[in-house]
Amino acid sequence: MEIKFIPLQTYGDERGSLVALEETKNIPFSIKRVYYMFDTKKNVTRGYHAHRELKQVAIALKGSCKFILDDSVERVEVILNDPAKGLLLDSVIWREITEFSDDCVLMVLADHHYDESDYIRDYNQFLEESRNEI
Ligand code: TYD
Repeated sequence: MEIKFIPLQTYGDERGSLVALEETKNIPFSIKRVYYMFDTKKNVTRGYHAHRELKQVAIALKGSCKFILDDSVERVEVILNDPAKGLLLDSVIWREITEFSDDCVLMVLADHHYDESDYIRDYNQFLEESRNEI
C-alpha cells in the first residue's frame, strides 16, 4: 500500500511556526468540512470504518497517534506526530486510530459534508466492496 504523506511548508521565525492549508494547493481537494479529536481517553481506538468516496487529510496538530491502514491486501501502521505532515486518505481504506497521546489534537480535513451513507462500518462489507473494486 502506498502511504501518501503531504509535507506542509512551515513558516518559522524567532516567534515560532506557522503552517497554512489551502484547498487545491497543498490540500489536494476542496475543503468542505474540518473536524478534530482531542481529550481522547486512554486505550481508545477510533475509526473502524472506510469511506466509499470521501477524501481526507489528517494532521496531528499536537501530540501523536497511530493510524492502522488496511487496503484489504495489507495492514500498515503509521505514526502521526508532526503538525507539518498530512496523511492523505483518498481511496477505500479501512482505518483504525489508536495510541493517542494525552495531548493529541488530531485534525481532519474532508472534501464532503458528513454523510453516513458514505461509511462502510462493517469490516466484511469493506472486504467485499474492495474485492469488487479490484
Ligand atoms: P464517529 O464516526 O464515531 O468517529 P470515529 O470514526 O472517529 O470513531 O463519530 C463520532 C460522532 O460524531 C458521531 O455521532 C458522528 C459525529 N460526527 C459528525 O457529526 N460529523 C463529523 O464530521 C464526524 C466525523 C462525526
